[in-house]
Amino acid sequence: MALPNGIKHVEELPVEGKRVFVRVDYNVPIDKATKKISDDARIQATLPTLRHLIDRGARIVIGSHLGRPDGQVKPEFSLEPVAARLAELLQLDVTLADEPVGDGARKVVSDLRDGQIAMLENLRFHPGEEANDETFARQLASYADIYVNDAFGTAHRAHASTAGMVKFVPEKGAGFVMAKEIDFLSRLLGDVDRPYVAVLGGSKVSDKIEVLDALLDRVNAIVIGGAMANTFLEAQGKNVGKSKVEKDRLPNARNFMRKASEKQVTVYLPVDVVVASSIDDAEGSKVVATDAIPADAMALDIGPATIENFRKVLAAARTIFWNGPMGVFEKPKFAAGTNAIARALADNKLALTVVGGGDSASAIAQAGLADKVSHVSTGGGASLEFVQGVDLPGIAALRP
Ligand code: 3PG
Repeated sequence: MALPNGIKHVEELPVEGKRVFVRVDYNVPIDKATKKISDDARIQATLPTLRHLIDRGARIVIGSHLGRPDGQVKPEFSLEPVAARLAELLQLDVTLADEPVGDGARKVVSDLRDGQIAMLENLRFHPGEEANDETFARQLASYADIYVNDAFGTAHRAHASTAGMVKFVPEKGAGFVMAKEIDFLSRLLGDVDRPYVAVLGGSKVSDKIEVLDALLDRVNAIVIGGAMANTFLEAQGKNVGKSKVEKDRLPNARNFMRKASEKQVTVYLPVDVVVASSIDDAEGSKVVATDAIPADAMALDIGPATIENFRKVLAAARTIFWNGPMGVFEKPKFAAGTNAIARALADNKLALTVVGGGDSASAIAQAGLADKVSHVSTGGGASLEFVQGVDLPGIAALRP
């Protein structure tokens, strides 16, 4: 696969017998009580890169972060369960160093033989990772002859392992995950088939306002659902009862609607919603129009008329980017809207359909439709920044 701007694919790198540092994004959800990984998709996604390296006798050093331990050693963020899961998937030993850098890590790396794998402990246990500290970056680089980035999910962070260390390693390239992400997501920045529709959901306008604004220059329509739609409804003067609203974002929502109309981008908001007295009141839920939300109720999913409207828009689209659920999809009673969006993407065989990480990726997987869309991104924040046209530091560092 030819990558843009001279970025090399791991298949083009002379990895035989070399020490290859592979930055992966194993920031996977771990159940607090059972300590089990609840979704190993990000680990599974890296297997092609790792198998490629194993087959060629590379000495593999894996680096990842997990959670946000803020530069401190916090055992609950250890990569131990991740290393164990990877060993199980590859049917190979994976030696976990007990620190990201230091004598122990150096020994684990120097003991590696061809085709063997070591994993450094959570890179964010060291403050140098997020600070992109040069000394820390040089220490990581000293473990490698070749640098491979397969951590698309972290490509929007300019950290030591995603950006800083790269210039200190003689050879660099993208792994299979990174290459596929660049390939599909770049298509959304180019000359796309139209209409191009973005579907945005999730709870916070504050998380998405930048992407909403940036998308106005690229898309023909924006479909908004999830709790963030409440802020837009209230900005239009509707009474949304007890629904979650970001009051401080009402001016942003109004601004956005004005800019959308100037740029002739159609914005679709819910016309009806599923409401209940609380998130735990699935039994008491009912469908109401968005101009008749009772004062003591909160919107927890989009309603059937909205689903029908959104479905029509998505059926006519030729390019679709979706990020964020339409409701509290973890609860079956409030999952219909999110499932309907997943289904609408899967049913549109004429469109390029891209699902941007996080909750939408889990939702489409839960609906069993992940292989019915063009691409499901492994990155949440990273895919959102990419589709806005931001030059991600983790990708920029791979250019010659
Ligand atoms: C993610 O899960 O989005 C990435 O692993 C980045 O994690 P971060 O938001 O903690 O930097």
